[in-house]
Amino acid sequence: KTTAMLKVMISGAPAAGKGTQCAKIIDKYNLVHISVGDILRDEVKNGTAAGKKAKDFMDRGVLVPDEVVVEMVKSRLAQDDVKQRGWLLDGYPRSASQAEAIEKEGIRPDLFLLIQVPDELLVERVVGRRLDPMTGAIYHLKYNPPPPEIVGRLQQRSDDTEEKCRVRVDTHNANVGAVVGYYTDVMKEIDGTKSMDAVFQDISAALDEVITKKDPLEAYC
Ligand code: AP5
Repeated sequence: KTTAMLKVMISGAPAAGKGTQCAKIIDKYNLVHISVGDILRDEVKNGTAAGKKAKDFMDRGVLVPDEVVVEMVKSRLAQDDVKQRGWLLDGYPRSASQAEAIEKEGIRPDLFLLIQVPDELLVERVVGRRLDPMTGAIYHLKYNPPPPEIVGRLQQRSDDTEEKCRVRVDTHNANVGAVVGYYTDVMKEIDGTKSMDAVFQDISAALDEVITKKDPLEAYC
């Protein structure tokens, strides 16, 4: 495994493939995966104050207010494992104000990955998605079918309906331009319509390029 202390942001529309690629990235590059959507879903499940505030917004497919999200991300980024291994921030920032909040702290990525998938493919990916609550694995009924023996335990997210997907896509499209503006110098656009493995090859190539620039010796280890 590579242990370069990378700082990476991954962005893209709902169901563009962020979670799928994050699993592959952390396996190869040993980064700490910080998924804001996963953290929020845990807070909702555990009935915390933050979860209670976030639930209605998540159910509607719109952004949870900054007062809930920003401190959550800042405090996670300050923890020891993140400082030791580097980070992969998935689903943050999603607005100019969220980008501004971490800019103020001097938090910037080495690489900003933007996975591009046309809107018309996203609904199919959302409604076919199934999650394994035991392993956290992400499946798709057509594109990444689960093994038959685990089908009975798979779950669907409550926001994975066609109607909510359209709201989530609109929310993404309304905000992505402002977010990208903060990171044009480190941005790499990735074609997310390719197969999962082909997308990962492109992402790996981008990460390896950053590692080589940061620490040329690491590339030969
Ligand atoms: P979040 O959980 O981040 O959801 P999202 O952005 O809508 O993204 P998804 O998790 O739906 O998709 P993904 O890109 O990870 O795709 P996946 O790999 O699973 O956020 C949920 C909610 O939380 C938001 O709506 C908001 O309310 C709130 N929230 C989160 N962050 C926030 C923030 N910063 N501020 C405020 N609120 C926030 O893939 C999807 C499917 O496609 C899978 O079935 C997969 O198998 C399949 N697939 C993946 N790649 C491919 C491929 N290359 N080819 C074919 N199929 C593929």
